[in-house]
Amino acid sequence: MDRLFIFDTTLRDGEQVPGCQLNTVEKIQVAKALESLGVDVIEAGFPISSPGDFNSVVEISKAVTWPTICALTRGVQKDIDVAAEALQYAKNKRIHTGIGTSEFHIKHKFNSTQKEILERAIAAVKYAKKYVEDVEFYCEDAGRTDNVYLARVVEAVIKAGATVVNIPDTTGYCLPWEFGEKIKFLMENVNGVHNAIISTHCHNDLGMATANTISGVMNGARQVEVTMNGIGERAGNTSLEEVAMILKCHKGLNIETQINTQKIYSTSRLVSGLMNMPVQANKAIVGRNAFAHSSGIHQDGVLKNRESYEIMDPKDVGIDENSIVLTARSGRAALKHRLSVLGVDVENGKLDVIYEEFLKLADKKKDINDDDVLLIAGLERSEKQR
Ligand code: KIV
Ligand code: ZN
Repeated sequence: MDRLFIFDTTLRDGEQVPGCQLNTVEKIQVAKALESLGVDVIEAGFPISSPGDFNSVVEISKAVTWPTICALTRGVQKDIDVAAEALQYAKNKRIHTGIGTSEFHIKHKFNSTQKEILERAIAAVKYAKKYVEDVEFYCEDAGRTDNVYLARVVEAVIKAGATVVNIPDTTGYCLPWEFGEKIKFLMENVNGVHNAIISTHCHNDLGMATANTISGVMNGARQVEVTMNGIGERAGNTSLEEVAMILKCHKGLNIETQINTQKIYSTSRLVSGLMNMPVQANKAIVGRNAFAHSSGIHQDGVLKNRESYEIMDPKDVGIDENSIVLTARSGRAALKHRLSVLGVDVENGKLDVIYEEFLKLADKKKDINDDDVLLIAGLERSEKQR
């Protein structure tokens, strides 16, 4: 199995979303949860952006033991000085510096040239190397950067000492095959590419962040930049839980992470609660309906063998069990199952009568709860059932 490094940027790319701001105490809580989840790198903030962010990077560095703590900078000396200072207490530290490499960024953001950007990239890496051994370089908007120029930048920053090179699809523009081809091109055309780790950092503007990330991994990337629940700028970043579970479900890809997947659900709840950012009900892996079965055919199949309609065990992501939701589309099997969970065994003749009453109610009421079921069955909840 090949090892894939998980770089979590919930506290940087995720936290910059309006309304998601956390104070330092809350950020430490999230960082500790990420540590126990098993992430390899925690991007703790962008220290030059505000005194609060600086302080959070300092405090997270003190609070967390084994993951690498990473601080973001632009490719300018002042940013790098401040990041190095914020990281002073980290046991394992990384500076993440970089610059836009697409024609669009070079022209409109920097009013510059490819040659000058290349020089600035090399200078930033060399400067960061004065402070830390582990330097990651990001080629911002790599998704829209010409592959030949991108390869020149990647080769130059690795030569200057970058240990990781990040290939962000900053605008979430790439198609999965196209992003995979980009990583493949770099793996095949950059001299010294094996002296560094190539990383993906995909945004979800077209809903393809996870697909692009997996495509990058299949073509040689060995670090992925992700966030819990996929939160992040605009439509968000690649979600950690999706990547971790894809690799767990598809063992044939031969790639493993160190994520303790049973802690996924509790970490998701923590982040959602602290950031005041609800998770959509149908969100893969961690949404309220991710393991809920509501149609009669599915419920019957799952009650016979859960693998009929479940490709993963809810326990593997830290959810106790799947749920069989009672709706007007539920069949007798689901109703009988719920009654038996409530300690009521009914023979088939009686079940038919109760089922008819159940359907009448379910047509009027969206959510049939345990009290409704017992009432229909002509029973009241006992103390034990409460
Ligand atoms: O999306 C992006 O390009 C980024 C970089 C700063 C790494 O977040
Ligand atoms: Zn980003």
